Amino acid sequence: MGTILYGSEIAKDIRTSLKEQIDELREKGKRIPKLVVILVGDNPASLSYVTGKEKACREIGMENILLRLQEDTTEEALLAEIHRLNTDTSIDGILVQLPLPKHMDEHKVLFAIDPQKDVDGFHPYNIGKLMLQEDTYLPCTPKGILRMLDTAGYSDLSGLRAVVIGRSNIVGKPVAQLLLNRNATVTICHSRTRNIEEICAEADILIASVGSPRLVTADWVKKGAVVIDVGINRVDGRLCGDVDFERVKDKTAVITPVPKGVGPMTIAMLLENTLESYRKHR
Ligand code: GUN
Repeated sequence: MGTILYGSEIAKDIRTSLKEQIDELREKGKRIPKLVVILVGDNPASLSYVTGKEKACREIGMENILLRLQEDTTEEALLAEIHRLNTDTSIDGILVQLPLPKHMDEHKVLFAIDPQKDVDGFHPYNIGKLMLQEDTYLPCTPKGILRMLDTAGYSDLSGLRAVVIGRSNIVGKPVAQLLLNRNATVTICHSRTRNIEEICAEADILIASVGSPRLVTADWVKKGAVVIDVGINRVDGRLCGDVDFERVKDKTAVITPVPKGVGPMTIAMLLENTLESYRKHR
């Protein structure tokens, strides 16, 4: 069996370093970086994600505000709130938890966030910069995946074949772009892809991000591949990923588990982006 790559351990080291940097700011009497997370409604999964973000901020001494708005909040009221936060100079990062209620236009809301405070990296301006390989906030899960690949010794992906399963704006599309920026030859597979197993079986780096429990089985995986599992699925009350971990692990050079894999990296990258915003703009 190959290496099990625990994002939880990499994320812990990152959080320790961030905490040291914030402690130093505090000792010098400087303002402390601040993140505002907006949650509209009470979707249980979203609530659990934002609670995790709050806890992580607290642990490293970063200031944070969780702004909870009712499910029936109007889009105008949310936009007004975002404009207020954009102009508040004590705030470094603004994150609107997705998905939003159906009566809101997600694109319009994300567009309203000041790109300089867009620590999620979801604003079209920042997505454009990512495409052009300019310095910008990278979306947290894709950034975390690339950091995990770095840790495992896969930084330059020249000559390697990468396959991403899933084409979401949050993970699939941006991670494919980041892999391309690292010189991988990238294929994106999705629900309409034919012969998905054969395509995946050619991957040196396989990223699964579809939300389909244990979709990726051993015959989808090339021997010696690196497999990154982004899925977080609940089956019979237990968490599992998009990869059939027990059956796939023996074929891989590196594989991430669920839980303790990519998830903790997403939060660590959010904290890192918020500190980056503080240092760049204030
Ligand atoms: N919903 C699921 N993942 C994310 C994320 O990374 N950021 C935001 N804002 N919403 C999400």
